[in-house]
Amino acid sequence: MAVQLTDEVTWLAESYPHGERHLHVSVYLLEHAGTRILVDSGSFYHREQIDAQLAETIGDAPVDALVLSHADLPHSGNVPEFRERWPDLTLVSSSGSPAVVGLGHADVTAKIGGTMDICGRTFSFVDPPLADIQHTTWIFDHSSGVLFTADGFGNYHAPEHAGKPFGAVDGGIPTDDIHDYHRNALRWLCYVDPSRLDPAIDALFEELDVSVVAPTHGNPIEAADLPEYRSRLREAVERIAQADPHDL
Ligand SMILES: [Fe+2]
Ligand SMILES: [Fe+2]
Repeated sequence: MAVQLTDEVTWLAESYPHGERHLHVSVYLLEHAGTRILVDSGSFYHREQIDAQLAETIGDAPVDALVLSHADLPHSGNVPEFRERWPDLTLVSSSGSPAVVGLGHADVTAKIGGTMDICGRTFSFVDPPLADIQHTTWIFDHSSGVLFTADGFGNYHAPEHAGKPFGAVDGGIPTDDIHDYHRNALRWLCYVDPSRLDPAIDALFEELDVSVVAPTHGNPIEAADLPEYRSRLREAVERIAQADPHDL
């Protein structure tokens, strides 16, 4: 389902079963001044559903740019199809060696830690405190204040919580759903000192004026709900760090 997050940002919220719970694989659509930008392309397994949501939001209009958080297939799986469909598409990758990660056709390389204009919009490419692979970036859209956090800030969710921002879920997304996702998706968290991770995340939010956190695999979190989400994430990370890695 397509969910409007801000005037210019729409969440294309694909949700699929993952055991007894569900997991989002999201694509975000940014529209302004007649231009359309996608953040991540979704998995090719979900192309039909993503296409249905694109048809619902932009009809037959072409997308001008596709900005990738990283090269994993749930994020880049529709790149070949989208490049063929929209020949003028600009593909922005954050990898310093795009060919090595299967993105040799990237038109533009975004420097992690840098800022760049894409279709008349300013984006910053953040070195992420939570990521699963190298060359991942969190993408900050200065115009809307939305921070796209790729595999960070995700969660599993009950099927009835699909397509709902964190604040629209009664009681918010439970800590267990945040814990289990981070334990499985970010395997290194069991080796982390939580007291060092938290200040790194704090510093990021002090620097950026974030209106919404938009994860690929979670329910988006509006600024007003961030303190609650952060507190649940803190508890989740502490639990992961305390567990014996062999039990995870
Ligand atoms: Fe990933
Ligand atoms: Fe992912």
